[in-house]
Amino acid sequence: MSKSKDAKIIDGKILSEIIREEIKVGVAALKEKGCTPGLAVVLVGEDPASQVYVRNKRKTCDALGIASFAHDLPADTPESELLALIDALNADAQVHGILVQMPLPNHIDGNKVLLAIDPDKDVDGFHPVNVGKLLIGETAFVPCTPKGCQEMLIRSGNDPAGKHIVVVGRSNIVGKPMAALLMQKGPGANATVTVCHSRTQNLPEMVRQADIVIAAIGAPHFITADMVKEGAVIIDVGMNRIEDASKKSGFRLVGDVDYDAVKAKASAITPVPGGVGPMTITMLMKNTLEAASRTV
Ligand code: GUN
Repeated sequence: MSKSKDAKIIDGKILSEIIREEIKVGVAALKEKGCTPGLAVVLVGEDPASQVYVRNKRKTCDALGIASFAHDLPADTPESELLALIDALNADAQVHGILVQMPLPNHIDGNKVLLAIDPDKDVDGFHPVNVGKLLIGETAFVPCTPKGCQEMLIRSGNDPAGKHIVVVGRSNIVGKPMAALLMQKGPGANATVTVCHSRTQNLPEMVRQADIVIAAIGAPHFITADMVKEGAVIIDVGMNRIEDASKKSGFRLVGDVDYDAVKAKASAITPVPGGVGPMTITMLMKNTLEAASRTV
């Protein structure tokens, strides 16, 4: 038997660069009309991973000509204060998108916060109005990570139409909206979708039936080579910090997929870092541009 070739790498950094150039053009066109797209990024507390994500989001805004409004609040901020800030951002015409970085401290009810955001400024796509619209196939803000995964499939020549896609993970941020997005009738979707999770019986057998696997479990190297069909396409959403004494930070980032082993079996795979991560931020910028476009 001939040895299988390594998978094609779906490079999220390169794809992001291409899409960011497209977004820059859209931002410039809106500015011509007197509208500068603006994104408010709210961070409560000092979670180190969240701080990194928020910094990257703000930096990307700057790079694309999108105005970013930073609101860093202490961890003990009362819920009422955060809700009052959201009210003010809802009313601010310069702010087209509002992002409240999750997770929030335990004393704040995350659902209450999501409900407070104007659905027309909900560039995360987490408000129940947008979640519902996505499910019934109406135009909606789609959560950035699932939207980024879909873009990666389309732009790497792996059209989801007619494919069996197994989504592993059922979070509100990734798994559920990913499944809803890919099962829609329309371009870039039309897939047959199975969702697996911690209570799935015989999960490896389910995943082996996938033409495309979307791994969004939050467990390092959970998807092993024996779970993957020869030639499958693998999208790894995982961002797990594991200890690594050789790094200055003391950790390194790994995905939910056992990358080196799975790469030898898959036809295409996303790396971590440099895969889905940059695409998520790029889709946030795209949603912000879309939110601003709707106002002119
Ligand atoms: N925390 C992890 N992912 C996300 C995201 O996409 N948006 C927000 N707001 N918080 C997150």
